[in-house]
Amino acid sequence: MRILGIETSCDETGVAIYDEEKGLIANQLYTQIALHADYGGVVPELASRDHIRKTTPLIQAALQQAGLQAEDIDGIAYTCGPGLVGALLVGSTIARSLAYAWNIPAIGVHHMEGHLLAPMLEDNPPQFPFVALLVSGGHTQLVRVDGVGQYELLGESIDDAAGEAFDKTAKLLGLDYPGGAALSRLAEQGNLERFVFPRPMTDRPGLDFSFSGLKTFAANTINQAIKQEGELTEQTKADIAYAFQQAVVDTLAIKCRRALKETGFKRLVIAGGVSANKQLRQSLAGMMQQLKGEVFYPQPQFCTDNGAMIAYTGFLRLKQGEHSPLEIEVKPRWAMTELNAI
Ligand code: KG4
Ligand code: ZN
Repeated sequence: MRILGIETSCDETGVAIYDEEKGLIANQLYTQIALHADYGGVVPELASRDHIRKTTPLIQAALQQAGLQAEDIDGIAYTCGPGLVGALLVGSTIARSLAYAWNIPAIGVHHMEGHLLAPMLEDNPPQFPFVALLVSGGHTQLVRVDGVGQYELLGESIDDAAGEAFDKTAKLLGLDYPGGAALSRLAEQGNLERFVFPRPMTDRPGLDFSFSGLKTFAANTINQAIKQEGELTEQTKADIAYAFQQAVVDTLAIKCRRALKETGFKRLVIAGGVSANKQLRQSLAGMMQQLKGEVFYPQPQFCTDNGAMIAYTGFLRLKQGEHSPLEIEVKPRWAMTELNAI
């Protein structure tokens, strides 16, 4: 079985082909980051228009990369939510139309399930059950995972997502959107002692997160530094980036440890854009070593949005005979707990 995967939920057009026997045989990605950079964030209408321009050529490129023709594809998986409605509509319309023309089944995939299952594409995939920490630009969730589609939400952010907090703080430091990765590079030059940010919601029980206060804390720290120094030096920026990142990483680690204790599980999966963060990976790896458990994460290119995770997730569901009806339906808001177990 060979599945074509199409991801267009936000600002990346991703197309990939997953082959049941050979694994991933094509992977194409076009990022719109430059298009949105001038606006300091994703402009939904521009995103939709760019997906229209890029999706079909990327499908052709993926087929060519795999040395395949349209008739070699057995099914199509497309992201149908959550995400930007216009962007989702582009991928869903193209996917459904091709499936109709090629007379093959298609399935609408949940974007966060795609992220959650991305570590399965690695050489050493995690076994079920595990705790998953999903950290992206739009979501921060701790999930108990007993199998594909067997998800229990243990906790989530009550305000900003971790990636959103990274991006907003990066913007305050004068970095281009999306600044998460750039902030993390800047933090490498930072001084560990100079600033200490709070670890929000860690002093009370529960597994929910709140990151919006950290952005305010960063804004206040920046204003104070400007008052004292006249202007923000590169070193001060790096010191603030370091302290902010450390606070996010520590907070995530504390809640992961709690979730593991609560479930009794020894395996932790991290996925979504922020799981590319080196400091987070290091910190969780150290913690899991202490707990005599194991941490799993996707390779960096599959942490952020991509077509491979959608092709793979769609493959698992299409293989079980699941498929979506012909109507083009998108779900901009969609809880992962509504998914069927397979
Ligand atoms: O999963 P993703 O590509 O898109 C969503 O589904 O939202 O995640 C994008 C988010 C952005 O907020 C970006 O700044 C953040 O992931 N990100 C990072 C890093 N790489 C990407 N945040 C911190 N450190 C990184 N290395
Ligand atoms: Zn994503």
